[in-house]
Amino acid sequence: MPAGLAGHAGLRADGVRMLATLRGLDDCGADPRGGVTRLGFTPEEDAARDYLRRVAAECGLTSEIDQAGNLVIRRAHVSDRPALVMGSHLDTVPRGGTLDGTYGVIAALEVLRVLTEHQVPLAYEPVVVAFANEEGAHVPVPFWGSLAVAGRLPDPTGVVDRNGVPLSEALARAGGSIDAVDRAAWAPGSVAAYLEIHIEQGPVLEAAGVPIGVVDAIVGRTIVEFEVTGRQMHAGTTPMNQRWDALVVAARLVLAIEAVAKDDKLCAAGTVGILDALPGQTNVIPGLVRMSAEIRDGDMDRLRKAEAAILAEAQRLAGVHGVGIESRVTMRSEAVSTAEPLREAIRRAAGHLGLAYLPMYSGAGHDAQIVAAVAPIAVIFVPSVGGVSHAPEEYTAPEDLVTGANVLLHTALRV
Ligand code: GLV
Ligand code: MN
Ligand code: MN
Repeated sequence: MPAGLAGHAGLRADGVRMLATLRGLDDCGADPRGGVTRLGFTPEEDAARDYLRRVAAECGLTSEIDQAGNLVIRRAHVSDRPALVMGSHLDTVPRGGTLDGTYGVIAALEVLRVLTEHQVPLAYEPVVVAFANEEGAHVPVPFWGSLAVAGRLPDPTGVVDRNGVPLSEALARAGGSIDAVDRAAWAPGSVAAYLEIHIEQGPVLEAAGVPIGVVDAIVGRTIVEFEVTGRQMHAGTTPMNQRWDALVVAARLVLAIEAVAKDDKLCAAGTVGILDALPGQTNVIPGLVRMSAEIRDGDMDRLRKAEAAILAEAQRLAGVHGVGIESRVTMRSEAVSTAEPLREAIRRAAGHLGLAYLPMYSGAGHDAQIVAAVAPIAVIFVPSVGGVSHAPEEYTAPEDLVTGANVLLHTALRV
């Protein structure tokens, strides 16, 4: 710890306060079927931002929404020091958990409150960010907010949500502007480092009985959308050997995508999460299928080869079965390494608090990997019970959440 901060060695997060702030978000998107449905750029995500702005105001912090819809919370005074940004996202997948992303924002806010109350003289100005639309569940641009601050957003003007409504409307409602998203980009040199704390979303820490993960690398991800076009025909009168059933071909493609990861081991994971057969009637042969392929790996060369293998197999299936298969790559996010000096700060913070830690790989994507293009990043994990996430059962013991916030706090002191 820098000498000037030695008097702050005993600082701790206020766990009761942090958990109460976290619970305050439960109403923003509580799903009657269980879990949380707080999709990016919906009124539920707006409500979460509004709630945190009220909390920030109550504790004398200032907040603003940038032009991309990101919530930014800082101390009230004006500072021209480079920022130490801490945060994550508030949006969820449909029927997701209460912690994915949200915990990282709330822990960062708790750390900012402690640093502010104790007037800790940091080298960098601590700032909290809640990135908009990390999941991309409703507006299919995952990492929207972090791409904007990194100045890497593809042309946003034509972006529509899954109902075809232009994003410009929801972005304006959130407090941003589609014509000015480039103004959300962080000025070069303005951010010294970015720290993200997140639930692990996997089983490693729980199985090892270790409270803290120090992430060394984050997975790369490619998303491909397919349209399989066959012929919509009568399900009773069309002989089985005279069909161009789009869903039957799509099913073969689903299995091929699984095999590329599972059997051929060209990449670490391959998932089809979207499969819509149209017109969707029991007595009609599906004429059109829209489906996704999502592949992940820590090595971008392997990921590119896996992508090529899937696209080649799609073309082969189209030829063999006489259907059309159109494909469109809608996202490629880079695998990244975290910054060793920041990892060292996390290890020292954990050591200071008497906590065991593990070096870890992240098979989940995080805003940090996008921010890595413009600032050094680090990611801290806390255990996920049963390794479950992107599901209503997602859970981390409250004491582990508080422990993680203390590690974030003491990491911030060491940056
Ligand atoms: C992030 O939510 C991911 O899908 O990895
Ligand atoms: Mn997620
Ligand atoms: Mn997340």
